[in-house]
Amino acid sequence: MKTVTVLGSTGSVGTQTLDLLAAQRDRFAVQALVGGRNVALLAQQARALGARLAVVADPTLHAALVEALAGSGIEVASGPSAVVDAASEAADWTMAAIGGAAGLPATLAAIKRGGAVALANKEALVCAGDVMLRAVADAGATLLPVDSEHNAIFQAMADGNRDAVESITLTASGGPFRRATLEEMARARPEAALRHPIWSMGAKISIDSATMMNKGLELIEAARLFGLASADIAVLVHPQSVIHGMVHYRDGSVLAQLGSPDMRVPIAHTLAWPQRLATTAKRLDLAALGRLEFEAPDPVRFPALRLAREALEAGGAAPCVLNAANEVAVAAFLDGRLGFLDIAAIVSDVVEAFGVGPADTLAAVLDLDARARAAAVRACAGRDRPAA
Ligand SMILES: NC(=O)c1ccc[n+]([C@@H]2O[C@H](COP(=O)([O-])OP(=O)(O)OC[C@H]3O[C@@H](n4cnc5c(N)ncnc54)[C@H](OP(=O)(O)O)[C@@H]3O)[C@@H](O)[C@H]2O)c1
Repeated sequence: MKTVTVLGSTGSVGTQTLDLLAAQRDRFAVQALVGGRNVALLAQQARALGARLAVVADPTLHAALVEALAGSGIEVASGPSAVVDAASEAADWTMAAIGGAAGLPATLAAIKRGGAVALANKEALVCAGDVMLRAVADAGATLLPVDSEHNAIFQAMADGNRDAVESITLTASGGPFRRATLEEMARARPEAALRHPIWSMGAKISIDSATMMNKGLELIEAARLFGLASADIAVLVHPQSVIHGMVHYRDGSVLAQLGSPDMRVPIAHTLAWPQRLATTAKRLDLAALGRLEFEAPDPVRFPALRLAREALEAGGAAPCVLNAANEVAVAAFLDGRLGFLDIAAIVSDVVEAFGVGPADTLAAVLDLDARARAAAVRACAGRDRPAA
């Protein structure tokens, strides 16, 4: 039996992880499930999988979780420090799927404990790259990429010939506004931006996909995970999302990983690694698909991608500030307080205001993150509300 903990079990990645665990009850024992606020789902999951511990991040929901798990024998805890404690407890495999920089303390705690950490929480690696990679090396932890693109690169690099890698390509669906004009994007409402053509995901990453900031964060994530320079990471729009990533080798060979766009495939890969797990994911039928399309991303309509690349190249504080400003701007857009195109504009202004400083300790990262958020809140308040 492999012991597993799922951080962010009530989210999109979390629930898909639990689908896989539920189908293999004889192979996995669930230690802890951690959710943010959705007590009803968390309790249902904990009962269904016989978790030892259930943790809700919002401490005001402690009593509700106790009540929902009454008579189950499942231990209950709440609050941010209980989340970190759960991540620190022994487990063979941890899914780090809390959304945003809020997941950093728990993701870092899981890494420090050692063992295998399946990383969905890309924002933690973007804002605290140096800190996390040092912790991985110190604890001898194994980071297994969950993002389908990074998981694809990880698989295509599996022959171990890392010195022969020339570059990599991350594919992008192009999101819901791939064909939209700038005028249409300026008027876009959250409902339209949330309507992703391929993937069903949490709200924040869906908006990031619409602005292509998601690909920008993935660019930074890839540089950190695979030790590559910005110039060696290309982004290619591929609307069918069947090829998830490609590794280009020095001899001209290109190894790609393909699969139906279903997050259960990369999640299962990290769960079973270095073995494989059977899934019910739809099998790829290339004849039915007919053709695969590719195009370069449009830098004019999707400036977020350029902003992320510039932040990666600037290094230091820039990726952390970029991520914090983006989280604030996306939340404001989802609340109807900001226009769609204002998201990248806010990020640009805040990153420029902060310049480049160090972000090489956890304290420095948390301080930067808080200051960048405050600056982004002020910048959002200074913009006109989008017209009705
Ligand atoms: N969805 C995808 O297909 C996908 C693909 C690749 C990578 N990712 C990455 O995976 C991560 C999760 O994405 P998602 O789409 O699954 O997001 P999501 O559906 O919004 O789920 C986020 C999860 O984090 C929990 N949470 C939020 N704040 C928390 C806090 N302060 N402490 C503890 N838990 C907290 C939420 O709990 P409640 O809902 O109970 O409040 C929920 O379980 C993100 O970093 C995203 O970029 C997602």
